[in-house]
Amino acid sequence: MHVLVTGATGFVGSHLVPELVDAGHRVRVLVRDQTQYEGLDGVAVFEGDLLDPGSFEAALDGVDAAYYLVHSMHAGPDYADRDRRAARNFVDAADDAGVERAVYLGGLGEERERLSEHLKSRREVERVLSEGTFELTSLRAAIIIGDGSSSFEMVRQLAVRLPVMVTPKWVDTECQPIAIGDVVAYLAGVLDQPETAGETYEIGGPDVLTYREVMARTAETVTGRRPLIVPVPVLTPRISMYWVGLVTSVPKSVAYPLILGLKNSVVVHDDSIRDHLPIELTPFDEAVARAVHNPAKPPESAADQSTEGYSPVAGER
Ligand SMILES: NC(=O)c1ccc[n+]([C@@H]2O[C@H](COP(=O)([O-])OP(=O)(O)OC[C@H]3O[C@@H](n4cnc5c(N)ncnc54)[C@H](OP(=O)(O)O)[C@@H]3O)[C@@H](O)[C@H]2O)c1
Repeated sequence: MHVLVTGATGFVGSHLVPELVDAGHRVRVLVRDQTQYEGLDGVAVFEGDLLDPGSFEAALDGVDAAYYLVHSMHAGPDYADRDRRAARNFVDAADDAGVERAVYLGGLGEERERLSEHLKSRREVERVLSEGTFELTSLRAAIIIGDGSSSFEMVRQLAVRLPVMVTPKWVDTECQPIAIGDVVAYLAGVLDQPETAGETYEIGGPDVLTYREVMARTAETVTGRRPLIVPVPVLTPRISMYWVGLVTSVPKSVAYPLILGLKNSVVVHDDSIRDHLPIELTPFDEAVARAVHNPAKPPESAADQSTEGYSPVAGER
């Protein structure tokens, strides 16, 4: 199949492209800045911006299926508007090009539980994409565990750098993390399952955990010790945002919307994807171990693991 991957420079897209190549597809990618993209042999690179109609349409010419793996949080607070426009532009161009299938990866979460702005925006993009004449397969995931995932990076740096954390009550929200390898297996797998065209699926790993467990088990895997986590009801997300900004390197524009989403439970209620793709799911601890074992990166520094570190919020009580 001729397949286009948008968001190919991103975390999910960069893992998906080699998998699609290995599966024998003719793969092309859409990137905004070709000079920043290290392509794979045999992958055609198209430069264009989904917010700039006229700049990217050539990438869709002759494509059978396209992956939509784009979000605009890095660009600041009006990301929802940009994401709506980018999805609309994609739909118009994909319809003109006669694309038959598209695959989107969005977020889990129950709409009746008042989703955060970020999760609402992800769902809105799903709705816009579903208006295309192509058949859309939507996958919805919670936090993806892998090297380069902004949400996992935020958790990892907090967990490893703060032996004591005073947190808002969101630490007891449930989530269902999934390993990047499993996400890629589902994303690539649905293309070979025609009956998944036009459907929406929830995807998750084998473990349902609270964010407290996610942080404790991540710290244990990386450093061998668990942080002390003390939830305090009076802390607002705004204060959490402040110290996440201080402690982690995740850009504020991405970290803030993600933190506001921590109030929403993100677990799989319908696992019908497994009727089509019964892949063996990676246990959480193994996913973390794989994500942090990147020989190209130096190990966590001694300063990062200092037992003197604690959440600055503790000092504000
Ligand atoms: N990471 C997670 O834990 C997670 C969890 C659940 C769902 N998801 C979903 O997975 C999808 C991909 O997320 P990710 O984590 O891979 O994000 P990411 O690493 O931040 O990548 C975002 C990608 O979007 C591209 N992009 C942004 N604006 C664009 C535009 N106007 N035109 C063309 N490309 C544009 C970026 O390109 P540049 O390099 O040019 O900026 C980048 O390649 C999203 O739909 C996200 O909601 C992710």
